[in-house]
This record gives sequence, structure tokens and C-alpha cells, in this order.
Amino acid sequence: EKGGFDHFMLKEIFEQPSVIKDTYRGRLHADKGIIQMSGIEDNLEKFLNADRIIIVACGTSWHAGLVAEYIIEEFARISVEVEYASEFRYRNPIINSKDVVIAISQSGETADTMAAIKLAKEQGAFVFGVCNVVGSSISRESHAGAYTHAGPEIGVASTKAFTTQITVLTMLALRLAKAKGTLTHSDFHRYLLELELIPEKVKEALGTIERAKEIAAAFKDAPNCLYLGRGYNFPVALEGALKLKEISYIHAEGYPAAEMKHGPIALIDEQMPVVVIAPKQGHYDKIVSNIQEIKSRSGKIIAVVTKGDTQVRELADYVIEIPETSDALSPLITTIPLQLLSYYIAVYRDCNVDQPRNLAKSVTVE
Ligand code: M6R
Repeated sequence: EKGGFDHFMLKEIFEQPSVIKDTYRGRLHADKGIIQMSGIEDNLEKFLNADRIIIVACGTSWHAGLVAEYIIEEFARISVEVEYASEFRYRNPIINSKDVVIAISQSGETADTMAAIKLAKEQGAFVFGVCNVVGSSISRESHAGAYTHAGPEIGVASTKAFTTQITVLTMLALRLAKAKGTLTHSDFHRYLLELELIPEKVKEALGTIERAKEIAAAFKDAPNCLYLGRGYNFPVALEGALKLKEISYIHAEGYPAAEMKHGPIALIDEQMPVVVIAPKQGHYDKIVSNIQEIKSRSGKIIAVVTKGDTQVRELADYVIEIPETSDALSPLITTIPLQLLSYYIAVYRDCNVDQPRNLAKSVTVE
């Protein structure tokens, strides 16, 4: 049932090219310049009249929400707030009937996310669910939604659910952008074509497996690890750190790279591995100077770079090359080597990859 893989997690990592395709199949028609998702078509006015979108989720799904915030604001120019469901539900949040609340949940059973949408509904908001498990509680409680179609995710560490959530939310952003005219015709088309190419590029990114193994062997005994990214890849840094924490029990933190100098830089010495997400598109020069700051403090740099990069290569101890995409779609690619890295570190530490200690696949209690 693990399809020849040692763990469900690795199987699910490798399923990503095909499940991302499943996620956009029948919805994305790049040749015709169309994105169609029934949950959005039927409720388009609700989205277009919204003053803002509030995203509620937990864990990895919350990270997908952060990526979506950047994409929806950039493409559709609608203001987005991303909230931990557990914080949102207990803080008497301001919710208006014109708000659209998007709940993201792989399992569709997370207690806090469920409670957050019940609260939002009571106050008149329109609730849109992005769930993986068909017929799950959150999908039933939502007014409308879009499934991720990632298939069953067994490994406790979420992998394919994350990339398919981002795929759905990117399509949502593009659909709204089309309706609002906030992207030029040519940009809209370019993104559709690029989205269609993502599965192939994810496949190529999976080719970093040997590199990930090599780096994992070098850092498996590190007690700490930092993950840095900027812009669209800041949430990927958070996600990379969460993945490492939960399956390898190494303490890891994700940070927006520029926040380094506001505290975490004090942690850097020759013992500290720092994973930097540094693709060519988007804030490249800024991230290069962040890397220089780490280098001058003797931190060990593991950089995720675009194929052919030379500048970061000169500074980094290890580079992982990934195929090029536009900045906005890059999280779908940059995430892949980070999943592989945490997987192999956990394997080399003899951890129970699919069922890490103290964790459950769905958190149905608060
Ligand atoms: O099923 P959900 O997406 O609602 O689950 C949310 C979190 O519990 C989940 O993403 C958790 O953080 C994962 N174990 C992370 O890999």
C-alpha cells in the first residue's frame, strides 16, 4: 500500500505531480484561458462584493493560507487576513456579513477550524471550505467550497495536501482576478500556462532527492535549524521548519529573511544550519545580502536556488537547484526539496516518520 516506498510520507511527496494535476483537472483550461470551479462560479458575487477575505486554518493548512494571502492580494487585489483558527474563535473577532471566510483543512475535521467557521456563519459571513477529505465535517458545514483532490494523506506530516491547497487557492485568486480585471490579459494567460507546467516542474524538483539525502546526512545531528524566505516563500520557510520539527524532533524556526537582524541573527554560529529559499525571481538581491550576513557569522548555508544560479552558489555550503517559475507560483516548487530534506533527516535519526510522537493526523480536540 506504500507503493514500494518506505513510508507513506515519501509516497505522498512523490504523488505530488499527479495529484496537482488531479486538482486542476476540469478546472483549468489554459488553452482556452478559462478557470472554472463550480463553488466559485455559483458564488462569484459573494467574492466580488467582499471587503476582505479571512482565512482560518491550523498548522500546514495555515501556511497554505499565508501563501494564498500573498497570491490573492497580488492577483485579485482583495484584502486578506490569515488567522489561526484557534485564536480567531476565542477572541471575539469582527466579522461582517460581507466577509468571505475561507477554511482550509486537509482532514476537514480539525476542531478549531470547525469552531471558527461556525462562529463566522453565526455572524453572517459566507464560508468557503478548501478540504481534502470528501464529505468531511468542515466541507459539509461550509456554504460552498473546492476539494483539493489529493487523495488520502496518511503520513501525519502534510505534504501533498499543502501543494494541492496552494493549487486550489491559486486558481481561486486567478478566477477572481479575471472577474475583477486586476491582472492584465497576458499575465492571466501566462499564469494559467505556468500552472499547467507545475506538475512537470515538481517532478523535476523531486530529482533533488539525492542532494537532499546528502545534506540530511550532514545535518542529521544538528540540534537547531533556521529556515528563511521572503515574499511568497516566507510561508514556505515556516512550512519547512514545521516539517523538520514534527518528524525529526529537531528544533527549527522559520522566519522572513529580513527579520533576522531583529533577533535571530544572534543565534548564528558555525553550528547553525540555515536553510535559505533563494529562487531567482523575487527579492533575489535582498536574499543574497541576507545570505552574506549569515556567511559572515559562519552559519552553515543550505540554499534552494533556481537552476543555473551562480551568485548564491559562491556563498552557500550546499545548494539545491530547482526549475524556474514565476515568483507567485514558486512555493509549489521550493517546498519539494524541503519536504525531502526533513524526510531524510527523520529517517537518518530513526524517527517514526509517518507517525511522529505526540501527534495525530486529525486534531479533533482543541
Ligand atoms: O487537517 P488539517 O489540515 O485541518 O490539519 C491541520 C494541522 O493539524 C496539520 O496541518 C498539521 O500541522 C500537520 N501535521 C503538519 O504537517
